[in-house]
Amino acid sequence: MTRFHNFSAGPGILPLEVLEEAQRDLVDHPHFGMSIMETSHRARPWVERMEAVDRDLRSIAGIPDDFAILLLQGGASSQFAMVPLNLLAGGASADYVDTGTWSSKAIAETGKIGFIARVAGTSRETGYDRIPTEINRDPRAGYLHYTSNNTIYGTQWASAPTSDVPLVCDASSDILSKPFDFDGHDLVFAGAQKNMGPAGVTVVIVRRDALSRAPRDLPTMWKYKTHADKGSMYNTPPVFAIYMLGLMLKWVAAQGSLEQMQQRNEAKAALIYDRIDGSGFYRGHAQSDSRSRMNVSFRLPTDELDTAFVNEAMEHGLVNLKGHRSVGGCRASIYNAMPEASVQLLAEFMADFETRRG
Ligand SMILES: Cc1ncc(COP(=O)(O)O)c(C=O)c1O
Repeated sequence: MTRFHNFSAGPGILPLEVLEEAQRDLVDHPHFGMSIMETSHRARPWVERMEAVDRDLRSIAGIPDDFAILLLQGGASSQFAMVPLNLLAGGASADYVDTGTWSSKAIAETGKIGFIARVAGTSRETGYDRIPTEINRDPRAGYLHYTSNNTIYGTQWASAPTSDVPLVCDASSDILSKPFDFDGHDLVFAGAQKNMGPAGVTVVIVRRDALSRAPRDLPTMWKYKTHADKGSMYNTPPVFAIYMLGLMLKWVAAQGSLEQMQQRNEAKAALIYDRIDGSGFYRGHAQSDSRSRMNVSFRLPTDELDTAFVNEAMEHGLVNLKGHRSVGGCRASIYNAMPEASVQLLAEFMADFETRRG
């Protein structure tokens, strides 16, 4: 078997042991006597799986009891509209910190459905190379939305913004990579496909007392309360994606605490950032105090060298290093499942490439 060192931004790398377990059980799961994909979501063993996902996620991430965990479809992108539809009353406004693409999309979507999305802070003028320090808060805002980690630009909040209004966090690309303080948040959402499994399920962690805020005539499927009341099984859930999420949670728990996960992630990221800082050849996109531990965006002196770097890396089995088209350059995504040894190989390749081409 030849598995590449996969630096993809998402869907991202999954632990080999999780894939192998899924492979073993794919056709005939011992508890179901059939594939997990063929089972009724009303079957008792499946309901127990759903309960285990809730229990495991709650315990790993320290999610307080006054939050409901919803397992939804439609990707994190659906949350850009579902959040305002559920949490803002008609005509209300919400504050957004714009750190690029994902928050920009959330802002656009909120405006499109008739709410006011106020940009409270942005790093747009500097090419989204930092987490904005100046945030002009509206004390009447329904919430303050931020993206804890910008997957494309490679910026990450060190901790949640201070706020007098409830926080909403898009944690799609750093959930479970470090401890998270739910205090002050009304809602946290994340697509699964970086640290929690394959694409197909979106986790929404919402304060229970916010569930009744949605207008009565909101379509059933768009209402968080519908899913909270039915244990995320109002309609057929994405069983395979949730099954994989369940396996991923067992894997995360087996790695130790989220504090330990954070230490490992910081050590991995340091291997690449140290290489960048020790060279005049590589240039990181993010300012050092805003650097992401999940996505390292960097560039070489010319576009030609960026391309040569990505292509040569591929020959060494280091794949998916091309930067997002809106930033260019290169990007190494080093999610929880990325082994330190692979990051070490990348750092060595960077040194070697610089010696030859710098
Ligand atoms: C931070 C962030 N938010 C939202 C999204 C959109 O997620 P989805 O493709 O699940 O809609 C992404 C996708 O990469 C992301 O990185």
